Order: sequence, then C-alpha cells, then structure tokens
Amino acid sequence: MGVFGSTDGQDQAGHEQVVFCHDKQTGLRAIIGIYSTALGPALGGTRFYPYASEAEALHDVLDLSRGMAYKNALAGLDLGGGKAVIWGDPQQLKSEPLLRAYGRFVESLGGRYYTACDVGTYVQDMDVIARESRFVTGRSVELGGAGDSSILTAWGVFQGMRAAAEHVWGSPCLAGRRVGIAGLGKVGKYLTGHLLADGASVAAADVSEAALDWARQTHPEVDLVADATALVAADIDVYAPCALGGALNDETVPALRAKIVAGAANNQLAHPGIEKLLAERGVLYAPDYVVNAGGVIQVADEIVGASQPSASGRFGFDFERAKARATRIYDTTRQILRLADDEGVPPAVAADRLAERRMAEVGRLRGILLP
Ligand code: NAI
Repeated sequence: MGVFGSTDGQDQAGHEQVVFCHDKQTGLRAIIGIYSTALGPALGGTRFYPYASEAEALHDVLDLSRGMAYKNALAGLDLGGGKAVIWGDPQQLKSEPLLRAYGRFVESLGGRYYTACDVGTYVQDMDVIARESRFVTGRSVELGGAGDSSILTAWGVFQGMRAAAEHVWGSPCLAGRRVGIAGLGKVGKYLTGHLLADGASVAAADVSEAALDWARQTHPEVDLVADATALVAADIDVYAPCALGGALNDETVPALRAKIVAGAANNQLAHPGIEKLLAERGVLYAPDYVVNAGGVIQVADEIVGASQPSASGRFGFDFERAKARATRIYDTTRQILRLADDEGVPPAVAADRLAERRMAEVGRLRGILLP
C-alpha cells in the first residue's frame, strides 16, 4: 500500500499526512498516520508492536488510521481519523525517554493528531507521553483522564447487539437468547455482565486460564467451551468475537449457527467478500467499528471536557456524558441496518457509505469562512 494512493480511487490510501519519527538515542521509530481531519483533529491510539519490517508497520498504520476516520465519523464525534505505530518490542524497548521522545513528536503536530492507548500501550504510558504533549487522551483517572476504555466499549457492543436483535427478532431484549463470547478479556468480561443482567445466557471461550477462572468464580452460570471454533459451531443465537481480528473467515462463516454477529474485536472480516458470505447465509453482521466505538467515545470525552463543561458545570472527563453518547450506538446500528435493507447492501457497506457521507457533508462546512 502506498501513502498517496492511486488517482483512480482503486485503493484505500490517500492519507492527508504521514509522519516518520526517529530518535536514535532511545530507539524510537514511530509512524503517525493522519487519514482525515475533515471532522476535526485526528484521534487514534498508538500501537507498540514488533513488526517484521518497516513496510509492515507502514501498512498497518495506513490501514488503522483510515479505519479510525470511519469509526470516529459514525460515532458522531467531531474528530478525524489517525493512528500511530511504534516499531519494536514493547517488552524490551519501552522506556520513559522513548515515550517522552514520542510525545514530543505528537506535540510537534500542533493538535492535528491526538493519541491514545492501543495494543502494547497502556493508560500509564499515556500519562508519560502527556508530560511532553497536550494532545494525549485515555490518561489515568487520577490525572483527570478517561481511564479504561473497555468499560464503554462493552456497553456500546451491548447496545449494537440490542439493535441487531431488534432488527432480526423484533425486540431489543436479549432475554432468552444465547450469546457466545470469544475472548473474556477486558471487554468480554464487562459484556458478560450486561448480557446476564438482560436475561441472556452466555457461552464463552478463551485461551487464557486466568480468564476462564474469572468466569468460573464470578459467573458460574457461563458455559465454558473448548475454544472459539467450538463456540462458532455451538447452538448460539449471537456470536460476539471479543478477542482477535479475522474471526469471520472462510472456515468460521459456513460453520456459524448464530443469526447475529456483534462483537468488540477490530477487523473481524478476514477479507473483503466475507460480508457477502454472511449475508448469503442469513447472518446479520453488525459492523465491528460501529459497535466497538464506545472506547473511542470514552477517550474522546476527555478531549471534549478540556473545553466544554458537563451538565454539572465541571470541566474534564465526564463518564455519564460519555456513556450517553455510547448508548447512541444503538440508534446508529439501527440506522445502518435499515440503510442496508433499503439499499440492498450488506451492513458493512452501508456503514462505510454513512461514514463517508458524514465526512463529506460535515467536513464541507469547514469551507464556510468564519470571521
Ligand atoms: P484483551 O487483551 O483484554 O482480551 C482479549 C481476550 O481474548 C484475552 O482474554 C485473550 O486470552 C483472549 N483470546 C486471545 N486469543 C484467543 C482465541 N484464539 N480464542 C479465544 N480467546 C482468545 O482485549 P480487550 O481490550 O478485551 O479487547 C478485545 C478486542 O476488542 C480486541 O480485538 C480489541 O482490539 C478490540 N477493541 C477493544 C477496545 C477497548 O476499549 N478495549 C476498543 C475497541 C476494540
């Protein structure tokens, strides 16, 4: 994938800005990708990962930053899409000087890009980066930050699942339905709680013994199955991939017995065309980046709170305001599912269309000159 993209619009690149950041002393090699600032400053996390090559790191940052533009647009945020990658093994390379060097590069963009957590970076890392840059979110609660974003990610997935249930069965209530959760990590755990509270039964799989122990001790009513493959083939109504990407592929989709897929994992569709396969099998797929936007909504509130007081008159992150916005994932999912029906396309295509429409229409307003 090239940075500029082809002029015939055949590929998905065409980023506004891509910045390579290098600090020899600390070993920092980072790439910041800004796909679009049409809706506002680009927001997206920093992934710290031992890529096999520079090309692989670049490919990932281009892909991920584009995805963030679509996610932020559909989350109704006045924020564009960006993402950053730090190339290297976080276990060996991560240090205060490296993170602070990275923070200075983020600061140098003057607010065109806000960073946050992603794979390999944590709330505590954001606190360190924030010592060098104002353009950091997802900091720790003690410092006034939004903290653990998986809380509202799980809440948003639950809302998206409710909208999908309403579309398929006529009622958003999940009572009496059986939901299969692949991955009882940070998001999967919260999601389990919401589903059980709504009256659903839960089956789950995880590769981590600690995660399975958590389920045995906290929710003994959850049925634990051998692995994600067994879960896919199990008698479930809803499948919620909450582990890794690529959960929906040429093997899993034909085996799937659920009528709905709605989960937190990013990039669930292993390759283009899987969305059609799902539709042909009569499976309703609630697009991943629509239903998992609660996390970005949570950290975006930290940015909003810096300049806007909440209903209580206070500045700073406001959990209730963020939760109210994440609850609207229900409405957005409904809107996408209806659009998909109206236009005769899979929901993933309808979501892309809606995101592109908002970026074009709201983005255009920036062309109106202000005094
Ligand atoms: P996590 O790392 O806390 O949990 C992932 C869980 O999946 C772990 O318990 C792990 O043992 C399990 N797992 C890994 N491979 C598995 C496999 N093959 N089969 C079954 N289980 C497996 O991650 P987290 O934060 O819960 O995120 C889950 C997914 O949601 C990830 O794909 C993440 O990118 C995505 N996501 C998370 C957000 C957040 O705010 N945490 C926001 C948006 C997306």
